[in-house]
Amino acid sequence: ADIYFLFSGLIGRSWATVFAAGGFKVKLYDIAQQQLTSALENIRKQMKELEESGFLKGALSAEQQLALISICTDLKAAVEGATFIQECTPENLELKKKIFGQLDLIVGDNVILSSSTSCLLPSKLFTGLKHVKQCIVSHPVNPPYFVPLVEIVPHPETDPSTTERTYALMKMIGQSPVKLNREIEGFVLNRLQYAVISEAWRLVGEGVISPTDLDLVMSDGLGMRYAFIGPLETMHLNAEGISNYCERYREGMRLVLNTFGPVPAFSDETEQKISQAMSEKIPVTPKILDARRKWRDECLTGLAKLKKQMKSE
Ligand code: NAI
Repeated sequence: ADIYFLFSGLIGRSWATVFAAGGFKVKLYDIAQQQLTSALENIRKQMKELEESGFLKGALSAEQQLALISICTDLKAAVEGATFIQECTPENLELKKKIFGQLDLIVGDNVILSSSTSCLLPSKLFTGLKHVKQCIVSHPVNPPYFVPLVEIVPHPETDPSTTERTYALMKMIGQSPVKLNREIEGFVLNRLQYAVISEAWRLVGEGVISPTDLDLVMSDGLGMRYAFIGPLETMHLNAEGISNYCERYREGMRLVLNTFGPVPAFSDETEQKISQAMSEKIPVTPKILDARRKWRDECLTGLAKLKKQMKSE
């Protein structure tokens, strides 16, 4: 059977549950036994909760899925028999390079080496590795169990079959993969996200709108559509097709876009203003933050259900 091997932090745990739901064997590796034990406990608790609330993914029961996950503190033993390795160490270039350097020495020619990095470029991570053809970035969105997108980003020397196999695997476990044809800073998700964040920052900074109202523009406005259709299809539907949209709105869009300000510093009075407003609504204590995250995940679960239902209709 296929074996997948990961690291057991926040994202590693999430990947483990996603792969196990897809029926694959998972081996969790970490430097500390303690980290692995608490990861397993955490995964068990999460799976049981999901099963009780009827949100567990996949055809297997929670017990059956848990039985697919094992732990290991020896890198060589962890890699043994693996066909796909998803690296989930902290976002630190030197550390990741060290790990991939170690893996490069012990893996065969058939395994895929995939990184969860959210912003390190494949050319920084993989250049010079003997197995560079088998290396790729598979960037998930937090929490991957509820948000299925995975950005697949190849190194210039990645073999096309590595990209295809990774894409197919992500599909198989129920994620929603997209392929980037070449690497670019921030990949695509964060470029879009930062475009939104920077204009939000400027609008609040210039006193056009309050921080909480700014968020409502997304959650009760744009976001309502974006959960189902992207910005390009939105254009297509908001007129009689794209060409008609451009004909009608190109002037207006260009006028507005030309009024956008420079990249914010993110360390000014605006930071204090936004921080104060957010902390008033959601005080920054672990308990309250966790409760809010739990609520967010419940919302995302409900949304995932709705999306599935809308697709089948
Ligand atoms: P984390 O800090 O929760 O987990 C890191 C894990 O790596 C820990 O279990 C730690 O014990 C282990 N580790 C540390 N040094 C190690 C070493 N030398 N060898 C083996 N294991 C080691 O980090 P998190 O948030 O899970 O992030 C992991 C990766 O996923 C990062 O590259 C991050 O950019 C990416 N990512 C994170 C997202 C998030 O929202 N947290 C979203 C998408 C990607």
